[in-house]
Amino acid sequence: MSRVVPAQERVWRTGTAPGIFPVLGHGIALFRRPLEFLNSLPSYGDLVEIRLGPQRAWMVCHPELVHEMLKDPHTFDKGGPLYDRLGKLMGDGLVTCRQPTHREKRRLLQPAFRPSHVAEYTDLVTEEADAVCRAWPDGQDIPVTEAMMALTTRVTSRVLLSDSLDDRTTAEVRDCLTAVVRGLFVRTVVPIDALFRLPTPANRRYRRALSRLHEIIDAAIAERRRGADHDDVLGTLLKAANGDGPTAAITDQEVHDHLITLLLTGVETQALALAGALSLLARNPEAERRLHAELDSLLAEGRRPRAEDLPHLVYTRCVVSETLRHSSPGWLFTRVATKETELGGRRLPKGATVLYSPHLLHHDPSSFPEPERFDPDRWLPGQPTAEQRRAMMPFSAGSRKCLGDEFAMVEATLALATIAGRRRLRHLPDRTERKQRPGITMGPRSLVMVCEPRTAGDHVVDNA
Ligand code: HEM
Repeated sequence: MSRVVPAQERVWRTGTAPGIFPVLGHGIALFRRPLEFLNSLPSYGDLVEIRLGPQRAWMVCHPELVHEMLKDPHTFDKGGPLYDRLGKLMGDGLVTCRQPTHREKRRLLQPAFRPSHVAEYTDLVTEEADAVCRAWPDGQDIPVTEAMMALTTRVTSRVLLSDSLDDRTTAEVRDCLTAVVRGLFVRTVVPIDALFRLPTPANRRYRRALSRLHEIIDAAIAERRRGADHDDVLGTLLKAANGDGPTAAITDQEVHDHLITLLLTGVETQALALAGALSLLARNPEAERRLHAELDSLLAEGRRPRAEDLPHLVYTRCVVSETLRHSSPGWLFTRVATKETELGGRRLPKGATVLYSPHLLHHDPSSFPEPERFDPDRWLPGQPTAEQRRAMMPFSAGSRKCLGDEFAMVEATLALATIAGRRRLRHLPDRTERKQRPGITMGPRSLVMVCEPRTAGDHVVDNA
């Protein structure tokens, strides 16, 4: 199964995906059955030409070729339909900024998300996760995705803004983020602005949510300027705005753009990952039993996990990793060639849209046998091959890799340990899950499950 061949010896396969519709190109396939369409592409080549509407675009299907593209962000810069649309929303924050300004921005924000700093957030994650799942009544239906959105909104807003938002405003932020993320996908795949200026209820909802989000952030910044300093992300940004940071002074607009970027990227992805893990566990009793066994042996008397438990939560972390492989919330990303270039032996014109998809890479059976099978054992120490580690890209790779990757892994591992230590969630017997239609992110967007209490050792009883 070894696929690592020195780059210079490799002969890449290129091809074109069949089924191009006039004007719409592969738009229908991407909209109606995106995951099946993506999964079919590696059979046509390592670099496959597709059509986004009438425009040509290239999907990079081989993990090594994806790495080659991502390690050259000056040639393959942020851009294309996704980032053009996100730029209108997030301004010039870290996710959407073009390469020439990227380094400075990253240098400013990176320290808050270094592993040494992330350890400081562990208590607040378990405290919030505990509060969320303790409120679930036994035997009742739980809106799991909504609850995970509440949890990750509270955690992220505390990391960014400490206690600047009261409970009511945090709940408002959660609702606004949900509405904005929903409206964003349709604006990306149908990039016709006039349509979204029409006074329809959906357009009004989107605009209201977006303007409220901006208002809340502006109010938090103004209040902090009037009050005491805090050692949080807003504190770092305000220092930089006063010319007192590690980089050149930033503008007030940049402070705002950074905060909205971090809220929009850090909350929903994480909520979908957690909801995805709970859903997959309920469908895979053996994985659930082993998770419970690990938690019961480590967290005696239902105590909350702490930072020092992290190295021992081995299986819990494997469940998180496998969830991110199986159901990666970030599923499709675009880049734009800033000059005429070559990729996989093919000339690409300046301005070419190039895409990569963590979902496609994670579901290619030549990297991950039986890719649809949820199998946390793939990530046990010593298990993944070098090729599998290279093909696993839920957080991307290279200098534009996710800023919050370590934070996201720690948050998800601790939140899952806290929730699964106390509660067991079951799928509703009479409800079939609706087929996934990805948006800007992918995951169980409106998952409802039923809650059962857990007692230590029930994994043993279950197995008897
Ligand atoms: C499960 C959770 C998450 C997933 C799956 C995820 C995934 C990703 C991916 C795939 C990218 C690269 C996008 C591209 O190549 O175009 C990215 C970038 C980014 N993510 Fe995350 N992310 C997660 C959580 C977070 C969190 C918690 C934060 C911060 C609060 C965050 C902040 C960012 C930022 C700022 C970037 C842009 C980095 C740069 O360009 O330098 N993400 N994320």
